[in-house]
Amino acid sequence: MGPAMLTMVDHPLAQHLLTSLRDRDTPPPVFRTLTRRLTLALVLEATRDLPTAPRKVDTPLEPVEGREIPTPLVAIPILRAGLGMLEAVTDTFPGVAVGYIGLERDERTLQPTSYYEKLPNLAGNHALLLDPMLATGGSAVRASASILSRGPASLRMVCVVAAPEGVRAMEEAHPDVPIFAAALDRELNQRGYILPGLGDFGDRLYGTEP
Ligand code: PRP
Ligand code: URA
Repeated sequence: MGPAMLTMVDHPLAQHLLTSLRDRDTPPPVFRTLTRRLTLALVLEATRDLPTAPRKVDTPLEPVEGREIPTPLVAIPILRAGLGMLEAVTDTFPGVAVGYIGLERDERTLQPTSYYEKLPNLAGNHALLLDPMLATGGSAVRASASILSRGPASLRMVCVVAAPEGVRAMEEAHPDVPIFAAALDRELNQRGYILPGLGDFGDRLYGTEP
């Protein structure tokens, strides 16, 4: 897998939060809070190279030239689990537009089925794809194809845990999409779950049984 493709966010706070997310005893309300906090750390890293433009303002004492992010951002969570990451992005970038992609993996074939898609204008804008689990990569590959067909200025993917299989699938299908994750785990099991992983993210976020 190409070194430029995956950025591991190894800030101590990100690792600390991830360990609690992995803990099977972490209940949904805490899991949601930890997800929000971890997403902030991931998104700050994912947006580190966003272009900025000069902007003049007057301080109470004198004029100064600062910088601003001139191009609109669009956040796109993959339903359901990506929703747990959304609030951190809307809090951090209040001007962000939000689109939604609903995908569900078939438990047997592991292929994603699309059940909802509502995307704002993406042409010329910077898109952030949010999905905490990059497992086979089927969902991310499909969502990325849909986003890229609408001509964004850039697309970055933010996830919590990536599997080598998913990173490889993205690298093959969309080599220009950088991925930001708190961990690259070992492998997938036969049911397509990431090992060691943290289980079913959507179920743990929303307190539903698999
Ligand atoms: C999970 C997860 C990802 C997807 C990753 O969603 O949230 O979207 O699986 O797997 P992949 O890389 O093999 O495609 P799931 O389909 O379980 O839906 P949910 O979020 O609604 O629970
Ligand atoms: N989706 C999840 O929620 N967890 C996994 O381990 C794999 C896919």
